Amino acid sequence: MTQNLADTSRPAAAVIAANAGASRGWWRDAVIYQVYPRSFADGNGDGMGDLPGIRSRLPYLRDLGVDAVWLSPFYASPQADAGYDVADYRAVDPMFGTLLDADGLIRDAHALGLRIIVDLVPNHSSYQHEWFQRALREGPGSPLRERYHFRPGKGTEGELPPNDWESIFGGPAWTRTENPDGTPGDWYLHLFAPEQPDFNWDSPAVADEFRSILRFWLDMGVDGFRIDVAHGMVKAPGLPDLGSHDQLKLLGNDVMPFFDQDGVHEIYRSWRLILDEYPGERIGVAEAWTPTVQRTANYVRPDELHQAFNFQYLGTHWDADALREVVDVSLDAMRPVGAPATWVLSNHDVTRHATRFANPPGGTQIRTPGDRALGLRRARAATLLMLALPGSAYLYQGEELGLPDVTDLPDEVRQDPSFFRQAGQDGYRDGCRVPIPWSGTEAPYGFGPTPGGPSWLPQPATWAGLSVEVQTGDPTSTLELYRSALAVRREHPALGAGTEVTWLDAPEGVLAFRRDSADGSFVCTVNTTGEPVRTAAPGRVLLASAELTVVDGETVLPADCAIWWAA
Ligand code: NOJ
Repeated sequence: MTQNLADTSRPAAAVIAANAGASRGWWRDAVIYQVYPRSFADGNGDGMGDLPGIRSRLPYLRDLGVDAVWLSPFYASPQADAGYDVADYRAVDPMFGTLLDADGLIRDAHALGLRIIVDLVPNHSSYQHEWFQRALREGPGSPLRERYHFRPGKGTEGELPPNDWESIFGGPAWTRTENPDGTPGDWYLHLFAPEQPDFNWDSPAVADEFRSILRFWLDMGVDGFRIDVAHGMVKAPGLPDLGSHDQLKLLGNDVMPFFDQDGVHEIYRSWRLILDEYPGERIGVAEAWTPTVQRTANYVRPDELHQAFNFQYLGTHWDADALREVVDVSLDAMRPVGAPATWVLSNHDVTRHATRFANPPGGTQIRTPGDRALGLRRARAATLLMLALPGSAYLYQGEELGLPDVTDLPDEVRQDPSFFRQAGQDGYRDGCRVPIPWSGTEAPYGFGPTPGGPSWLPQPATWAGLSVEVQTGDPTSTLELYRSALAVRREHPALGAGTEVTWLDAPEGVLAFRRDSADGSFVCTVNTTGEPVRTAAPGRVLLASAELTVVDGETVLPADCAIWWAA
């Protein structure tokens, strides 16, 4: 199934790698833009985003001012979980293009000065993966079964699952197989959908295969990997029962026998050696849900990965005290391991922050549109806060347009597997995955080449007014705010990498902090309250998320607003 690449002899990373010396530590303050390939740009008009579409839009990302692009999976997959179920780790799914398209995309990105990070899904494969299919065919006793977690069931006839683990998507984490002779057989473990069997990382074949996959994509020229379920590969010996139900509620708060086991760090130490063999500082980013930021820091020790997502930050509501605390805790946790803190507000698994902040605090899965104007005001301010913090920031496609979640998708168009398994997590993730609007007045708003053409999820009619085309050149638009913020961030010496913020006295509900460098200082002020607040100006305004006024020599911070100052 692996596609052949006609010419693998040229070093793909030419431009970027040539600058390797000049870009030491590039990832420490990188702004990394997540592209969700299904929904970014559709080159061939079939309603599904693809690699040629992404390639054609790379100049937009360069002009936006990001440093790197993370691509969610585009590998061969039956799409049971939107590509997080990989059938062939070295092939591009035909719906996204070919390996040559991937090669062209990486080369074009590098020529534009953008780095490319690809998703790696090592916790589980697709049930259509050749290894799993062969293991099923060969039946109990086959050594090929050691690459996954096959177990006999409990009960007199083996009719009960081997343990009490529950799938993140709802229901038991085990599915029973049928033997080659048609009789009921062993069960296999899947922490996610039944179409996503978990690999057994005790099997040397699994570890070898992933080292080889890493090299395959590094040879293709990618600059790093976002590692899916990075906390999941190692399971507690003996796969012990948890002894409780509703296990989903424990995720991220408790130690689980299938998550954040210490053994996982050995894998990252071996991967780091491979990453370091390649020029240009190739990086690993952990998607690791752990009980504390301190546990997350274990993934980014100097001989492991480079970054880990800061989900504690993503989960913090629009509240000055809570935000200040999570910033402090995050910086404190990363300081001893020497890794940059990271910040993220949205991704393809959570309700977009423009909608989260439009609603009362309620977690990361919100089903109501809330107060759209309030949400957008806060989202714009939250972006300036995030981009002012020391470290690296992740943007999710469309947030630069101020897109809300689509909360009223009809059930019949939904594709999120957890929606169909009901009891599980995140059943409404399709709402943040709707294709983004580029131009024009008719759907799919430039997402595909033909007005009136298809898009795999329907876009709201209001999105005509949110397109890149409409927002470009409008100084009050969210897109221009992002462009300005990223330009200022690149230029101001006190922004970007670092480990410290100095909190300044501020009225209740207002955050103010200072960042200093030898070449200049910077202050960020954030009014999280719904009321205007007056403040003495700490310097010259660089950028503000809303219009400012000056009264009696004092600056008035509008409600839910952030301001950047040169101090
Ligand atoms: C995390 C991914 O972000 C999510 O989309 C996916 O469903 C699970 N991992 C399983 O791969």
